[in-house]
Amino acid sequence: MSRPRLSPWRDGVLGSVAQTSVDVETGDEDQDQPPDAVKAEFEFEDDSARGDGPAVDERWEPPTVDPPTIEVTPQPEVIPHQIIAVAAAKGGVGKTTVATNLAVGLARQAPLSVVLIDADVQFGDVAMALSLTPGRALPDVVTAAAAGDALVLKAYLTPHSDGYYVVCGAESPADGDRVTGEQLGHLIRQLAVIFRFVIIDTAPGLGEHALAALEAATDAVFLCDMSVPGARGLRKELAVLATIGILPPARHVVLNFADRVSGLSVKDVEATIGVPVDVAVPRSSLVTLSTNRGIPLLQNRKKNPASAALTELVRRFDPSASLKRGRLHRRVVVA
Ligand SMILES: Nc1ncnc2c1ncn2[C@@H]1O[C@H](COP(=O)(O)OP(=O)(O)OP(=O)(O)O)[C@@H](O)[C@H]1O
Ligand SMILES: [Mg+2]
Repeated sequence: MSRPRLSPWRDGVLGSVAQTSVDVETGDEDQDQPPDAVKAEFEFEDDSARGDGPAVDERWEPPTVDPPTIEVTPQPEVIPHQIIAVAAAKGGVGKTTVATNLAVGLARQAPLSVVLIDADVQFGDVAMALSLTPGRALPDVVTAAAAGDALVLKAYLTPHSDGYYVVCGAESPADGDRVTGEQLGHLIRQLAVIFRFVIIDTAPGLGEHALAALEAATDAVFLCDMSVPGARGLRKELAVLATIGILPPARHVVLNFADRVSGLSVKDVEATIGVPVDVAVPRSSLVTLSTNRGIPLLQNRKKNPASAALTELVRRFDPSASLKRGRLHRRVVVA
C-alpha cells in the first residue's frame, strides 16, 4: 500500500503554494492569513452597501418595433445539480457524520435524487455509518465498464432504504489506494448528470481525492472543532484553496463539537478561521451513539439540539427555502 499521492500537476501547484503563501511546515502565522479573496467571499451581507440604482428618466419611452419571428428549438432539459464536498483539515471532526446526515436530510426533500460518495479512499467508513453491506464499492465504480456507461454505473451503486444511493468505500486501504483523483473527478461528473445532489465525504486534509472533490464541487462544507489546531487548520486550508483557485463557489462553515467548556467562543473560532461560522453542531452523546449504531441522527426524526443543527445545515441546500443564500450568515450561538 502506498501513501496518499498527489497527481503531478497537483504536486506542483501545492508545492509552490506552500512556499509562497502558506508555510505548512512551520505554521508561520504571517504567511497563512486567509487571502482577501477568501475574506471577501465570506463577508456578512451588508444592505447598506447596496445603492438604489440609477435614476429612471420617466420621459423616456421605448421605441415601437415589430418583434422578429424566432423559431424556438426545444432544448434538452438541464437538471440543476449541486455537488457538495465535505472537507476538513483535521481528522475526526465530523465529516462523515455531516455527509451521511446531509444525504438523509436531502433525500427527504428529493427522494432518489441524492448520491453519497465515500472518497476517503483508504479508511472510509460511510458504509458502517449507514449499516450498509455494499455489493460494489468505489474501486468497482471507477472501472472502465461503469466509467463509460451510466446504466452500469447506476447498477453499481448501493441503495439505502431511506431513498438515496451510496458509493461505499473500498474493502481495504490497498484497494482504495488504486483509485486516482482523476477517476474520482470523472465519477463525480458522471453522477452529477444523473443526480440532483452529489455529496462527497473526504479524508482529512488536501490529498489528491479531496482536491478532486473540491475542484468539482459547487458547494463545500468545511468543518472544524472548537480547538485552536482545528480552527488554524481550516484557515490554512481555505488559504491554500483560494490561492490555487479551487474554492468552490458556495461555502458553508460548520463548527462541530460546539460546547461552552472548550475555553473558546464562536467569535474566537471565527477570528482564527477568518470567516464566519454558519452552523454550530453541539457536542452530543446522541451523535456518537448514532455512529456506533450505524443510523444517522436525522434518520430517526427525534428532536434534539444536534439534529436541529444538522437540519439547519440541510436547509441551506433546500431550493425552496425562503432565505436567500447570501443572507444566511447569522451570528451562531452555542447553547
Ligand atoms: N457533535 C458531535 N458530538 C459528539 N460526537 C460527535 C459529534 N460529531 C461527530 N461525533 C463523533 O466523532 C467521531 C468522529 O466523527 P466522524 O467519523 O464523522 O469524523 P470524520 O471527520 O469523518 O473522521 P475521519 O477524519 O476519521 O474521517 C464519531 O464517533 C462521531 O460519532
Ligand atoms: Mg470520515
